[in-house]
Amino acid sequence: MRAVRFHEHGDESVLAVEEVDRPEPAPDEVLVEVASAGVNPVDTYFREGSYEPYGLPAVPGVDAAGTAVEVGAEVEGVEVGDPVFATGLSSTMPGGYAEFVAVPDDRLAVLPDGADLVAAGAAGVAAVTAWRALVQHANLRPAETVLIHGGSGGVGHVAVQVAAATGAHTIATAAEGYHEEVAALGADAVFDYNRDDLAEAVTAATDGAGVDVVLDHRLDEYLGFDAEVAAPDCRVVGIGENDPAIGFPNSAAARGKDLRLQLMSMFNTPSLADALADVASLWGDDIEVRVAHSYDLGGAAEAQRAVLDDSFLGKLVIEP
Ligand SMILES: NC(=O)c1ccc[n+]([C@@H]2O[C@H](COP(=O)([O-])OP(=O)(O)OC[C@H]3O[C@@H](n4cnc5c(N)ncnc54)[C@H](OP(=O)(O)O)[C@@H]3O)[C@@H](O)[C@H]2O)c1
Repeated sequence: MRAVRFHEHGDESVLAVEEVDRPEPAPDEVLVEVASAGVNPVDTYFREGSYEPYGLPAVPGVDAAGTAVEVGAEVEGVEVGDPVFATGLSSTMPGGYAEFVAVPDDRLAVLPDGADLVAAGAAGVAAVTAWRALVQHANLRPAETVLIHGGSGGVGHVAVQVAAATGAHTIATAAEGYHEEVAALGADAVFDYNRDDLAEAVTAATDGAGVDVVLDHRLDEYLGFDAEVAAPDCRVVGIGENDPAIGFPNSAAARGKDLRLQLMSMFNTPSLADALADVASLWGDDIEVRVAHSYDLGGAAEAQRAVLDDSFLGKLVIEP
C-alpha cells in the first residue's frame, strides 16, 4: 500500500510517499481502509520531534476514518463494512496518512450508516478535544456562558457546536470573514479576535456577568484576557499556546477571580473510544465537521504547512 512516511525529524520536506506493507491487524485491532485522515497541528509536532512518534520511519496522522475491512478476533461491536473513525494514532502505532491503518479498538468508534467519511477523518482530535474540554473538564451546563477562542479553527468550530448542543450561551472569536458561518454553527455572538475592545464586547455579551467557561488555545496570549472577562469561579480549559516559551501573564488577575485553569492533552482522554462514540451519537444532527481543503498523499507536506500557516474554517484532510 501507499503511505506517507518520515525517516528523520525535520520540516515538511522529510515527508515522502512510499510503498509499504499493508498492516496485519492484531486480535484487538480493526484494519481500516482509509477514506480520509485529518491534518492536525500535532501531526507537525510529531514530524519535528517535539512529540515522539512510535519510532522511525513513521507514518504520521493522529486521525483517520474509513471502512472496516478486517476485524480482529477480540474486537466487539465492529463488523466488516462498518464506517468507523479513529484518533490517538501515530504516537504508539502508525498513523492515518496511508491507504490502510490498523487501529486498536480502544481508539475507534462506529459511525452512523451513510456518514461522510471524508469529514469523519477530520473529526477525531477536533471533536474529542472539544468534548473533553467542555463536557468532561469544564462540565459546561446549559445555563452557563462559554467563550471559545478561535471558533473557526479545527477544534474551535466543533467546540462551538458541542457548546451549542449543551444549550449554553456560546460566544466565539474568529477572523471577520467567518462570523456568519460560526454563528450558523451555533454561536450566539462572534467577535473578531483582533478587536481592540474585545474584552468589552465579550463582557457586554454576558450583560456584564462574565463568562463561566473558556476554551483557550493560546494561553500565553489570552490567560490575562480570560481573567478579565471571567465570571467568579470561571473554568478555563487550556489546550495550547501561541509561543510556549512566553509563559502565562497576569496570573494575579486570574487569582482574583478564583479562576480554575485546567490544562489538557487529548491523548490523556481515559477512553478515546467512548469519547468518539459520544461524538458519533451526535453526528450529523448536532455535530458536523467542515472540510476546508483536501489533499492526496503527495500533498501531505503542503497540508502540514497549511495547517500551521493558512487561515481556513474547519479542517484540512488527506484522502489517500
Ligand atoms: N491539548 C490538546 O489536546 C490539543 C488538541 C487539539 C489542538 N490543540 C492545540 O490547539 C491549537 C488549535 O488547534 P486547531 O487544530 O484548532 O488549529 P487550527 O485549525 O489551526 O485553528 C486555530 C484557530 O486559531 C485562530 N487564531 C489565529 N490567531 C488567533 C488569535 N490571535 N486569537 C484567536 N484565534 C486565533 C485561527 O484563525 P485564523 O487562521 O482565521 O486566523 C484558527 O481558527 C493548536 O495549538 C493545537 O496544537 C491541543
